[in-house]
Amino acid sequence: MAAKVLRRPVPSSAFSWYPTAMGIRQRQLDALNSQLTQQDPLLQKIKKKQPVRVAVTGGAGNIGYALLFRIANGELLGPDQPVEISAIELKSGFQALQGVAMELEDCAFPLLEKLTISDDPDEGFDGADIALLVGSFPRGPGMERVDLMKKNGGIFSAAGKSLNKFAQKHCRVTVVGNPCNTNALIACQHAHDLPARNFTAMTRLDHDRGVGFLSRKTMLPPNEINHFAVWGNHSATMFADLSDTLCHGVPTSELVGEFRFERYWRHELGPKVATRGARIIQVRGKSSAASAANACISHTRDWVLGSEQPDWTSMAVVSDGEWNVPAGLVFSYPVYCKDGGYTVVTDEDHPNFRDFHRMQEYKKYCIEQNVKELLDEKDMVAEFLP
Ligand code: LMR
Repeated sequence: MAAKVLRRPVPSSAFSWYPTAMGIRQRQLDALNSQLTQQDPLLQKIKKKQPVRVAVTGGAGNIGYALLFRIANGELLGPDQPVEISAIELKSGFQALQGVAMELEDCAFPLLEKLTISDDPDEGFDGADIALLVGSFPRGPGMERVDLMKKNGGIFSAAGKSLNKFAQKHCRVTVVGNPCNTNALIACQHAHDLPARNFTAMTRLDHDRGVGFLSRKTMLPPNEINHFAVWGNHSATMFADLSDTLCHGVPTSELVGEFRFERYWRHELGPKVATRGARIIQVRGKSSAASAANACISHTRDWVLGSEQPDWTSMAVVSDGEWNVPAGLVFSYPVYCKDGGYTVVTDEDHPNFRDFHRMQEYKKYCIEQNVKELLDEKDMVAEFLP
């Protein structure tokens, strides 16, 4: 009988009946999950320190400019991992991309084995192990959300088709260009030869924003803020979840004060995280670029190399129906990343330190609102779905 092929890390909840003493449960999980590493060509390349090919669209844009130099400097895959960069830009921005390439050459990065630039996605995605889809049509004055969706629908269906034909079958795709959840859905549906699990959209910026706010509120370093999560769509509807968040190991409700906790969560932290992107546009005059590039690096690095355990991170992934979200929608969940894959945090993994019953109802309501919004977006781009 053929061995069962694992497609995702086995969650610890699958072995909850195993004893944890002396690491018995962990060893069982590690043994099963090591299969994933052995059968994944990307992880094998990293293990052997062979160059990993990273394709980046929107290479001459603001985010692209902040991203490419960090990738070349080893911040995506580690300080001893050679990379090849393939930067892609529209014809209109190609001359600017040539300038960026000249600057990259001038840095003489030791890890950058090869740099290619192109205005043709087919050429740019050729052989890609990782694709960062950053370029998208920006929202202009007076433009409706539906117009933006339609403009980007064409870009991301073309990207999906090119990835399908030319990228490696194990290619991991991170979608940054907005509206990123729906753009990822479109690209994924046009790349039927790549596993749907290899398409994710970035809500890490929202996650990091929430951690930053909490860190400043509690005067603790960001790495002492754990189990924060962002659910749903990368839009103002997203749900910033504090139900399991620990600050220096203490439930946030205890630090903020139980009396003020609900008000702080619903009326201060949640809206601040959800509207931070718009606020940056207002103050800076342009949308976030360096922080978005940073989040793209953290998202993709954690996905490929693993996230800090036992904490989790937030990632928009193709839903398998978890938490009653319709299967196939690209939805942000708290996830664990390990062995080149991710697992959505389940109810069993949720410690739920405080049973804020009202907040659990609120969370359910917010998840439903996000589902509704993403289904509406899906309807708006129906003409771009195969
Ligand atoms: C952000 O969250 O900063 C961006 O997604 C905002 C935007 O619309 O560009």
